[in-house]
Amino acid sequence: MARKIIIDCDPGIDDSLAIMLALSMPDQIEVLGITIAAGNSPVEMGYENALKVLEFMDRLDIPVFMGAGCPLHREFVNALDTHGSDGLGESFLPPPDPSKYIRQDKSALEFLTETLRREPASVIALGPMTNLAMLAQEDPEAFRNIEELVSMGGSFRSHGNCSPVAEYNYWCDPDAAAIVYRESDRLRRLIHMVGLDVTRRIVLTPDLLAYMKRLDSRIGAFVEKITGFYFDFHWEWEHLIGCVINDPLAVAYFADKELCSGFNSYVQIETRGISLGQSVVDSMNFYRHSPNAVVLTDVDTPAFFRLFFSRLLKIDIKSLDLIPDLVRS
Ligand code: RIB
Ligand code: CA
Repeated sequence: MARKIIIDCDPGIDDSLAIMLALSMPDQIEVLGITIAAGNSPVEMGYENALKVLEFMDRLDIPVFMGAGCPLHREFVNALDTHGSDGLGESFLPPPDPSKYIRQDKSALEFLTETLRREPASVIALGPMTNLAMLAQEDPEAFRNIEELVSMGGSFRSHGNCSPVAEYNYWCDPDAAAIVYRESDRLRRLIHMVGLDVTRRIVLTPDLLAYMKRLDSRIGAFVEKITGFYFDFHWEWEHLIGCVINDPLAVAYFADKELCSGFNSYVQIETRGISLGQSVVDSMNFYRHSPNAVVLTDVDTPAFFRLFFSRLLKIDIKSLDLIPDLVRS
């Protein structure tokens, strides 16, 4: 039975790959809708980019909802330097024909509230958690109906990507992240924190992209088109040959918890000062506080790419014999 989810995201190159993966697992994941947060891209751009990805996947039936245009309190800082001026790797894809989809006039908050009041569903959060924090504040009962919350964000022992200690999603809107972790604590729920400790191990390399293109030229060409800018960014800023595709790991882990391992811990998000946005993981239980998160620290990288390729390209996982040789160890 497929599990019902809402994807809250900020497309964004890796968000787009995550949406593609989620839509490629209909036996396990039913996407009820996509809500857009301001993050990598301004929210209007993120909305348009989600539609472009849905058109490529021939799934413009999936409703997309525009969320908050800025963080709860902080000044909005986008990540277009990483994702390109169009937020999609400067692929400059044409917008879908408006006649092909229904433009939703509901907000992300309205959709989240209505859906979660109607039925339990899980949320995979791939961007700043502004929409989710607003839901927690305005309708705690609807927030309580989130069956499982998987958040790409934060880091435990890995260095930050926006400051020495902060990861972008939690740094962009630290107040929102703090509210979501506090609410999860109040509800005695565990957020699955898919942080940089594991996502930095998910590197799409040129060899993996070449393999993807050999296996499916259409999908491979699309992935190449939206990741070219991202490859350049990673070379310039991290001297890395390849690009870290954070968000698809959150989707893959939602579907197969065996991909990652970690530990339960109490986590608080810093909302001010030099370590603003840091996910403070109380791994030694100094605060004697019950856990509110599953902090992931290890990932089976080849297993992720076997799942990613087999689902996205619709090929037998057993045929992907080259994956172990192509993944970055
Ligand atoms: O720090 C990486 C995260 O921030 C990813 O979700 C990326 O898409 C950006 O939102
Ligand atoms: Ca994202």
